[in-house]
Amino acid sequence: MAKKIRASAPAKVILFGEHFVVYGKRALAAAINRRLTVEVSSREKEGYHVKIENIPTFGMAMDLEDKKAYPYKDYGGAAKAIAYVRESIGLLEERYGIGKEGVEIEIKSEIPLSAGLGSSAATCVATIAALKAFFGVRSDLDGIRADAHRVELAVQGAASPVDTAISTYGGYVLVEEGNVRRLHLAELTLIVGCVGCIPLSMDTKKASEIGLKTKKIVEEVRRRKDTFPDVYNHIFDAADEITGQAIEAIEHCELAKLGALIRINQGLLDAIGVVPGRLSELVKTSQEVGALGAKVTGAGGLDDMGSIGSVLVLPGKSEAKIKVALELAGALVMDVKTGGAGLKIEADHR
Ligand code: MEV
Repeated sequence: MAKKIRASAPAKVILFGEHFVVYGKRALAAAINRRLTVEVSSREKEGYHVKIENIPTFGMAMDLEDKKAYPYKDYGGAAKAIAYVRESIGLLEERYGIGKEGVEIEIKSEIPLSAGLGSSAATCVATIAALKAFFGVRSDLDGIRADAHRVELAVQGAASPVDTAISTYGGYVLVEEGNVRRLHLAELTLIVGCVGCIPLSMDTKKASEIGLKTKKIVEEVRRRKDTFPDVYNHIFDAADEITGQAIEAIEHCELAKLGALIRINQGLLDAIGVVPGRLSELVKTSQEVGALGAKVTGAGGLDDMGSIGSVLVLPGKSEAKIKVALELAGALVMDVKTGGAGLKIEADHR
């Protein structure tokens, strides 16, 4: 019987606490309404064939055995995505003994790449879930999340559990001292502006270097913290307090207070040096035209790395103006709703 498994996982935004979470401080993240879908089906030839289309940026098809890549749109960023797929297959072979019978993996993503929106975590979660279902490996959500986190760690060297938790569970998660807690909070309407997401023309080597930028930025923050530990400890404690107060503000629908906390969080991210010029510009632009608050979301960037990344904006009543202003400033602009569904798995037996 032919079988097709389809698994999809959402992108994420970190609302509060990125970087500080690496040091055990609280971070609040939410799933957003952009998804990545992985379809797994059988094929006649043995081994894995992977086809990836990142709708905003690239497309590539590759036979993992003969290592030939067939770009059909562009494969600038595919080197990074394929690393997560390959590592996921390796982990499942090792831990659960899944076979090498002919497998077709087709990935379609609506998540801009290397923009701080969790495209890697969504790739790991959906690939692992689809392959487990295809090979009949029993697994609950916690098992899928744990395996996806292992893959992120193996590929990136460092990662907090934030991204894989959100891609798996959806909704909102609070991460504190490495522990993940799911929260039930109301939906927020946000705008996300991305700049410098990997362009169509970029070569594979450069794209994979950018893919590893989070690791470099986290290392740079650690270096600075080691230079000024007493200063940084206060900044980190303030960030932790902001996350706590922000949760209360969302619970009580206090949007003006939430906006103010977003602005302070942005100030702290700037203080630790992860807000490059272009992202700072997008934050200021949004605030000038009436946003309640705007901040970098995800790892941010470093001035000497070139600007690539995203800002999230709490628009208040100025949504239309903010979108135009961000577009004029050269950003890819997305309307975002927080707190949507997590991992979805469907089987199609024919
Ligand atoms: C990256 O999306 C968020 C960081 O806090 C790193 C991590 O949590 O692994 C910068």
